[in-house]
Amino acid sequence: MLTEIFLRIHAARLTRRYLAPKGSSVYSPPQPDSKAQYLLYIHIPFCQELCPFCSFLRVKFEPSLAKAYFDALKKEIDAYHNLGYSFNSIYVGGGTPTIMPDKLADIVLHAKSLWPVTQVSVETNPSHLTGDILSVLKDIGANRLSVGVQSFDDRVLRSIQRYDKYGSGQQIRQKLSSVAGMFDTLNVDMIFNFPNQTAEMLKADVNIIKEIKADQVTWYPLIISKSRKRQIATSCGRINSRRERRLYDMLTQELADTYNAESVWCFANRPGLIDEYPVSHDDYAGLGAGSMGYVNGALYFNTFSIPDYIRMIEQDRSPVLAVRNFSPVEKMRFSLLLKLLTGSASIAAMKTKYGKRFVRCLWKELLFLFITRSAVFSNGNIVLTARGRYYWLTIMSTLFATLGDYRDLHTPPPIVIPSAAEGSAKTPSPQSLPCLPRAPSRGA
Ligand SMILES: C[S@@+](CC[C@H](N)C(=O)[O-])C[C@H]1O[C@@H](n2cnc3c(N)ncnc32)[C@H](O)[C@@H]1O
Ligand code: SF4
Repeated sequence: MLTEIFLRIHAARLTRRYLAPKGSSVYSPPQPDSKAQYLLYIHIPFCQELCPFCSFLRVKFEPSLAKAYFDALKKEIDAYHNLGYSFNSIYVGGGTPTIMPDKLADIVLHAKSLWPVTQVSVETNPSHLTGDILSVLKDIGANRLSVGVQSFDDRVLRSIQRYDKYGSGQQIRQKLSSVAGMFDTLNVDMIFNFPNQTAEMLKADVNIIKEIKADQVTWYPLIISKSRKRQIATSCGRINSRRERRLYDMLTQELADTYNAESVWCFANRPGLIDEYPVSHDDYAGLGAGSMGYVNGALYFNTFSIPDYIRMIEQDRSPVLAVRNFSPVEKMRFSLLLKLLTGSASIAAMKTKYGKRFVRCLWKELLFLFITRSAVFSNGNIVLTARGRYYWLTIMSTLFATLGDYRDLHTPPPIVIPSAAEGSAKTPSPQSLPCLPRAPSRGA
């Protein structure tokens, strides 16, 4: 328990340090490597109704705002194209990406017209598993569909305010069964350790996941950012972090006969099915409000304000809010963190990427892993033990909670960007808001 407390405090502190802008005063997307193929993450922050526990950037759906947002996204996609980026995979996350299916199709097909994209992953909700939306998803070439369920238990669904929106556990189960096999990968997002969720409810959930033959299940622990803590307590009761480990051990055991643990919280019915984009792709660009990208050792965020995002793009300004250029050691630490999310990291691969100094630079982290019996050496790999996997889950959920706090802290009151007619006195400085790259003119 002491180790877990230490890890939570340390992970939160380190995340806050990593989020502090450093090494750049020009807030624009990093320059890409011209030969690299990146992953394109696109954030759609709109939802019909907001769930009280949700720790991501999401707002209530408002059609005219959403329409302007999708138009801005298309322009941001062009800006990345003009910067020289090339993408082979797209991940559309939310919020609810399928909230305006035609607009979703428009941006995905636009991106596919610019780059050789072979993988398209889209998140959605159970109420959007309708014939119309599914056929749009098929038409745009979605290979992976990720459906947020959280729990099949009606008591839990009611307390997290999803029963009325998305139907009973039984209805969701039927919808999922009808979609199984339609896409290369059907992922189901679940959550454990809601205050009113028992071990029996979770066991029943595991059986349903097996029954519907989901290819993959991502089972997050309840992530509690400061701003959601009260909302969660009000809707589902007092949060008990102490039982998290017991529930996690039970879940991993129950899933083991059908699913491989591809990461500490992602379980797949065939080996190697890892669709966690920060793990499968070393570098990725983040587009849309509040998106995070990591390219060539630079972590960056777009503004968290949706109106500001739209306005900045409309005025050909970069929506990047903060950039953090990692030092060599920070890059190694970040890379080790993400690799170990899968349960193991190859020392040879890390040495190839960072040189022999990898072990020398991260000796404290490695020593900690072995002293606490969180990891062992096996065939040239650092492999997490069962205890280490739980510790890693703790670190990752703290990281997400701290990111949520960071977002809440940095969701600014809207910036007023005056039109040209209003004069230049209030125009944000070009250094803090550089112009979006434009396509070179034909004559250039
Ligand atoms: C941000 S949602 C977007 C997709 C879709 N709207 C949905 O409801 O699933 C993706 C997933 O993040 C997970 N999630 C959101 N908030 C969480 C929290 N506080 N703790 C753990 N997981 C969370 C849920 O499992 C959710 O399905
Ligand atoms: S869990 Fe999904 S539906 Fe609920 S608020 Fe978050 S993004 Fe929206």
